Amino acid sequence: MLISDPFPCVVFTLCTILSFSCSARATNPFTQYAVDFPDPNAIVGGKFPANLGGAEATIISWAEQMASFGPWTVTSKPVVAPSRDKHDYMSWAPYQWPNCSNVHNTTVLDLADTWKECNYYFLDGQVNPDRNSIQDFQSFFNLSDAVLYNSIAATLQNESSSIYSQNVVKFINTWFLDADTAMNPNLNYAQMNGGPGGQTGEYMGILDLRGFAKIASGILILRKTGNTDWTSDIDNQFIAWCTKYMNWLETTPTAHTAATAGNNHGTIFVNQLAGVKLIAKDTEGAVNWTQNYFTGIFLGQLAANGDQPTEASRTHPWHYRNFNIAGMITNARLLKYADPTSNPWNATAKGATIQTTVNFLRNTDPSKTGETAITAEIYPNIAAIASVYGDPTGKYAKFMNDAMFPYADDATFLWDQPLAGGDTSGGSGPDASVPKGGKSAGMRSLAVEPLWFTSFIVLALGLYLV
Ligand SMILES: *[C@@H]1O[C@H](CO)[C@@H](O)[C@H](O)[C@H]1NC(C)=O
Ligand SMILES: *[C@@H]1O[C@H](CO)[C@@H](O)[C@H](O)[C@H]1NC(C)=O
Ligand SMILES: *[C@@H]1O[C@H](CO)[C@@H](O)[C@H](O)[C@H]1NC(C)=O
Ligand SMILES: *[C@@H]1O[C@H](CO)[C@@H](O)[C@H](O)[C@H]1NC(C)=O
Ligand SMILES: *[C@@H]1O[C@H](CO)[C@@H](O)[C@H](O)[C@H]1NC(C)=O
Ligand SMILES: *[C@@H]1O[C@H](CO)[C@@H](O)[C@H](O)[C@H]1NC(C)=O
Repeated sequence: MLISDPFPCVVFTLCTILSFSCSARATNPFTQYAVDFPDPNAIVGGKFPANLGGAEATIISWAEQMASFGPWTVTSKPVVAPSRDKHDYMSWAPYQWPNCSNVHNTTVLDLADTWKECNYYFLDGQVNPDRNSIQDFQSFFNLSDAVLYNSIAATLQNESSSIYSQNVVKFINTWFLDADTAMNPNLNYAQMNGGPGGQTGEYMGILDLRGFAKIASGILILRKTGNTDWTSDIDNQFIAWCTKYMNWLETTPTAHTAATAGNNHGTIFVNQLAGVKLIAKDTEGAVNWTQNYFTGIFLGQLAANGDQPTEASRTHPWHYRNFNIAGMITNARLLKYADPTSNPWNATAKGATIQTTVNFLRNTDPSKTGETAITAEIYPNIAAIASVYGDPTGKYAKFMNDAMFPYADDATFLWDQPLAGGDTSGGSGPDASVPKGGKSAGMRSLAVEPLWFTSFIVLALGLYLV
């Protein structure tokens, strides 16, 4: 046999070297954006112009990075929920802190005892690091990004089967479907409070699974492209899971509290439920809930000047305004997708639209509320608004350029195009109607892949022969 033992080792080393040089193509560093729903039709039907090469390379890179952490399962956590069922999802409330003066302990308590015995109190915006001792929430965030970016990456390959869609199948199967590792379709133990009697989930924990909007986009993309890795068998199993979970979301009192909350919890509940409904093929239900959001909760969320009173009162108002805007944009995208005749982007509350609240945020200085800097969370919000409402005066492009954010290389540029001149090279001037793309975007297109793959084979063989 020609291929002897050291060969896989050689290949591995070369892969490492080559993927290193490959990642030297400009791609943006991974950012875990809060929530989004890239329109599956736009992704599938996309004839992407060359200036999107940077965004495409970033998506491939993020797909691979996120896949490297998977697969994920709720059954791997070191503790089990009070139900004693290891298939139950569980997380701890982030802003709850223990006060053990009621316990009169003489030595330090371990986390499990602290959590059961000490009284807990709420400190808004201050995350108790104990939360990280259970990673189900972070696993689901990563799973959601892995599914979204791998589904898009699979589509960019334009092949009916690829490592990217195989990743999606593996991740969905492990988290939701495989009998050994599946999550039960409930959030009975999400964001549990600590303390005596606090061993059940809170309504605020529902938003732990907001990533369902991203997952829905990914799965719809695979369905629409007729991807052969996403078989009708796995599709049917996932529909069955989502149907049960949808029922939990629509009938459980904690979920009802989330659904009727006037702040970001209400917005993001709808992101999640509508996403689940689209996977479960309940398009009518997705339209109903997103439409009701815009004729209900949304109306109470905006002031005439575009501020958001329910978020402005929080300890990190700049962050929470951003977060809720991402939820508004996601609801608009879900509704527009589920009912193309709808017009959520024109929905008004006290005369303000989603654009008005983004403009308000754009002119808000985070340092005024002790939030030190403009962070990446605002960029997709600005870009989405520029892509929907246009950027005739170039103010959104200027914002990005001033922030030195290489927008055209960001994953979201694929569905938030065309943001005029959204790159750091500047000089696009106001009113530029054609997006410029990254500085060398064309060179980053996927067309280079076969070339480096060929050189990889040649090098691999060369090294082997030496
Ligand atoms: C902890 O609880 C004690 C007793 O109820 C109370 O006096 C004290 O103020 C609490 N400390 C904090 C930080 O809440
Ligand atoms: C009691 O346990 C808590 C939680 O571990 C700890 O913060 C506290 O210091 C302990 N008290 C004493 C006297 O060790
Ligand atoms: C999630 O992804 C981040 C990188 O963004 C990584 O640091 C973290 O370890 C991952 N966690 C899990 C549970 O996958
Ligand atoms: C994708 O593949 C199909 C079928 O092989 C082909 O007709 C189509 O032109 C390809 N599209 C792109 C953008 O390469
Ligand atoms: C429509 O959505 C509302 C919440 O916005 C919900 O209360 C109602 O049950 C839904 N109706 C149907 C038929 O799903
Ligand atoms: C808002 O409505 C007007 C009139 O129907 C329409 O021309 C415009 O395109 C809409 N704007 C958006 C962003 O959908």
